Amino acid sequence: MNEALRQLHDRKSVRVYEDRPVPEDVKKAILEAAIQAPSAGNMALYTILDITDPEKKAKLSVSCDHQPFIATAPMVLIFCADYRRWYDVFCANLDTVRKPDLGDLFLAEADAIIAAQNAVVAAHSLGLGSCYIGDITENFEYHRELLGLPQYVVPAAMLCMGYPTKQQLSRPKPPRHAVSDLVHENGYDLEKAARMPRMLETQQGKTGEELQDYIRRFCQRKWNSAFSEEMSRSCRAMVEAWLK
Ligand SMILES: Cc1cc2nc3c(=O)[nH]c(=O)nc-3n(C[C@H](O)[C@H](O)[C@H](O)COP(=O)(O)O)c2cc1C
Repeated sequence: MNEALRQLHDRKSVRVYEDRPVPEDVKKAILEAAIQAPSAGNMALYTILDITDPEKKAKLSVSCDHQPFIATAPMVLIFCADYRRWYDVFCANLDTVRKPDLGDLFLAEADAIIAAQNAVVAAHSLGLGSCYIGDITENFEYHRELLGLPQYVVPAAMLCMGYPTKQQLSRPKPPRHAVSDLVHENGYDLEKAARMPRMLETQQGKTGEELQDYIRRFCQRKWNSAFSEEMSRSCRAMVEAWLK
């Protein structure tokens, strides 16, 4: 396995950080690596918010489904899908310009998230741990206000970063499914998709009643949950604001 592959395999989410700051040159290297990511038409349809204000981190730790480690994370980045810059420059140079639509939002979301993943990989290579915070897409109206987001700029991904504690380094990485179960050749394979119960058996090391119990609990925690309801409400509000 070469070094890049080894690092991709080694990386795991880190949620507890040593109490020491990320040096500015390290932060700069991570941000420089993030913007090397591919982007649609090389338009860089994103803006990265570097949240350094402890008060804002504390507020985000509450608004992002009450996750206290956000408040103490030495580095917090929010990757926003951003068509504001391009739309303004189009409008300044052409008489007729259509408004940003859903396709543009999807493209900008992809750009933002791909840049975020570059930051994750770069951070890992520099000895930092990171964790995505999906809940940044909740409470859209609140986050828009807190972060001063104009129309056509919406949060796509948030990352907490810092030097991992020893305990985090020794924590095992959650196991993955087999590549053969996740890759379908030339088109969607419903038979492979129906292997999901067996995939979960292997991944979780559980069978029968124990596996059923795991699935029920997981569904309650991740699917039938208040946070996922809020995420859908918030994302609908985000789309409405984008299309206004
Ligand atoms: C889009 C996305 C959102 C996530 N949101 C959270 C989150 O809000 N809180 C958290 O602790 N982990 C979050 N994670 C981390 C996942 O739980 C983690 O990636 C997954 O369990 C696999 O573990 P690993 O990253 O250690 O391999 C998120 C990951 C992704 C990709």
